[in-house]
Amino acid sequence: MNLFVASLLAALAGARSQCISQNDAMAPPASPDLTPLNDFGINLFRKVVSPSKNFIFSPFSVWSALTLTYFGSNGNTKSQMEQVLRLTNREDALATFKAVENIYTSRNNNYTIDTANRIYATETLTLKDCLQQVFSDKLKMLNFSNVDLVVETVNQFVSTTTRGKITSIVTPDIVKETAMILVNAIYFKGFWKRKFEAKDTIQRKIFISANEHVMVDMMHQYGEFKYGFSNELDAQVLEMPYRGNGASMYVFLPKDKKTGQELDDMLGRLNPDSLAAALRQLVYEDVVVRFPKFKFDSIVDDELKKALKALGITDLFSGASDLSNFAPRDKIAVSRVIHKAVIEVDEEGAEAAAVTAVIGAVIVSIQPPSPPVNFFCERPFFFAIVDTKLNNIPFMGTFRKP
Ligand SMILES: *[C@@H]1O[C@H](CO)[C@@H](O)[C@H](O)[C@H]1NC(C)=O
Ligand SMILES: *[C@@H]1O[C@H](CO)[C@@H](O)[C@H](O)[C@H]1NC(C)=O
Repeated sequence: MNLFVASLLAALAGARSQCISQNDAMAPPASPDLTPLNDFGINLFRKVVSPSKNFIFSPFSVWSALTLTYFGSNGNTKSQMEQVLRLTNREDALATFKAVENIYTSRNNNYTIDTANRIYATETLTLKDCLQQVFSDKLKMLNFSNVDLVVETVNQFVSTTTRGKITSIVTPDIVKETAMILVNAIYFKGFWKRKFEAKDTIQRKIFISANEHVMVDMMHQYGEFKYGFSNELDAQVLEMPYRGNGASMYVFLPKDKKTGQELDDMLGRLNPDSLAAALRQLVYEDVVVRFPKFKFDSIVDDELKKALKALGITDLFSGASDLSNFAPRDKIAVSRVIHKAVIEVDEEGAEAAAVTAVIGAVIVSIQPPSPPVNFFCERPFFFAIVDTKLNNIPFMGTFRKP
């Protein structure tokens, strides 16, 4: 039988028994360190990023969906997943999962990150009885012969969790082949600490290749931002914080060399070390920011399975799959992993956020400060939304053209 992992994003529920680990009740760490996860995330991102289109991807979501699957694994399937997902054992993984869920459901003021998990299983599958307790509301048994019902139920869940941003992820074709579906959904909405003024947004050129441009709605502001230049990535780096200092968007704008390959060259050098080094050396500067307004979604289907296999998760997708910790008597392999993400970036900021920079100050100043840095996103760039408290990167993306 096939298991289908639909990954939009995630977090796992409280567990009380010894159902999926030796100690399901292990206390969640107050502040889980999600740094190891970024290794997995960046490696995976580089494998699945589209070479030609805008791309938005949540490695955290994929990690969450796979970790949920991991709780069902045994044997070689389990050790492969541990290695690739940077997990050590079920007890710790479960504690981390619970911690992440607690944090993302309780912290909710200046930005919103909603994650949710569901396992949908067909009524004919014999799951371990205790799973119903461990996963409580996360586990739903459905009649998978009734394809329309399953499609509607899963898509409704996804739509609710993403607040209507993603309205569908499964189709009847997908459900027909499946006995179990893992869905993991994420929604993020941040408000810029320093919002852009709508009146400053104008149509400007963005170079989509070395000598080809199109027009885009380009936002504009001048202010104090953390900024730096990464020699290793050969890119300007800007931090645009969301309200509350808990999350930021980091933008990586490769130096213009008129090749049209700058972004892809940079992605080739992107790894956990070069990323961390680039973020460490940012300092406050006066920056003139031009940043496009955009909204797009990405779906990764077959490429995701291929990439995960290339990283070392192979048994899970084959006849060698061992998910006996979920269903001891059924043979289940994962047939598909689908990931869909959406992003929308606009001027919106905190209501009445303080504007720190006063345009024109340079002119009247007796000792003019050094001229502002220009950060003009007028060519393709990479961005990462980082939860700076947990060092989690819920989203990574590239913008190539409007
Ligand atoms: C499951 O759904 C199919 C198709 O709608 C239906 O024929 C069948 O009776 C249902 N099974 C149960 C146990 O309700
Ligand atoms: C939300 O933002 C305000 C103002 O920046 C800050 O004082 C507050 O601590 C933030 N709340 C959280 C939970 O981060």
